[in-house]
Amino acid sequence: MPIAIRQVGPCFAGEVSGIDLREPLSDADAAAIHAGMDEYAVLVFRGEKLTGEQQLAFSRKLGPLEEAIGTSLRAPEDYRLPTVFADVSNLDKQDRPFAREDRRRLFAIGNRLWHSDSSFKVTPAKYSILHALGIPSKGGNTEFADMRAAWDALDAETRAEIEGLVCEHSQMYSRRQIGFTELTDEEKARFRPVRQSLVRTHPSTGRKSLYLSSHAGEIVGWPLPEALILLRDLIEHATQRQFVYAHKWRLHDVVMWDNRRTMHRARPFPAEEPRDMRRTTLAGEGPTAVQAAA
Ligand SMILES: [Fe+2]
Repeated sequence: MPIAIRQVGPCFAGEVSGIDLREPLSDADAAAIHAGMDEYAVLVFRGEKLTGEQQLAFSRKLGPLEEAIGTSLRAPEDYRLPTVFADVSNLDKQDRPFAREDRRRLFAIGNRLWHSDSSFKVTPAKYSILHALGIPSKGGNTEFADMRAAWDALDAETRAEIEGLVCEHSQMYSRRQIGFTELTDEEKARFRPVRQSLVRTHPSTGRKSLYLSSHAGEIVGWPLPEALILLRDLIEHATQRQFVYAHKWRLHDVVMWDNRRTMHRARPFPAEEPRDMRRTTLAGEGPTAVQAAA
């Protein structure tokens, strides 16, 4: 049965059928998924119970992967998963939910701010592929915002004002917004800002989109308060309901999204319940902006 995609909610989200992700992905199916990602920007695969190896094989067939090293407050000896996965769970190495006040948890709930994965890396992520291995009894949705539609809906004056602007992104900036500012010198050095263009052109479709993320905390050459107000206004614009798809997780869902033209955020859920999410991440093509001299 060939792959079929049916729109779910807004036009940038689709649900895929006619594929079993546990099986090796054929070249034709990989091409169909890439084409589907270009047409949509979020694809949902239901009922895919994957081992780590199966998720890796499927992901690698779509492109080279990014590693998750030093991107959280987990110490390397406390990693629950190999670094080829981003551990998006709320679990420690013994698979127990973090205590409510655990700083690893408090840092991680920065993911409840709108963001694009790895926008704090010089080469930010292409696709994220998130697999639900354990979901809470309520809450924990992931919401996605269509940054291409958000760009299309801007007036010409705003587009002219922001095209060409470069932002500085860091996990310190997203955490600053939720009052998480206590970082060690080592963490501050690890989270030093990188530069990203505020408007991107998608390499396969040629369409422009806003490239926003709560990790963006400065605009190069702008006074800070003015930069933060503009970024706040743009995020408010881009996350209006008509641009948003809310994914309600079922066990063993796989959801794939294009970070180059979407933002997303996790929604709250009971702190004491496990939420076990395992992400593989396709590496992007390269930097979106020239970096500051070291
Ligand atoms: Fe994320």
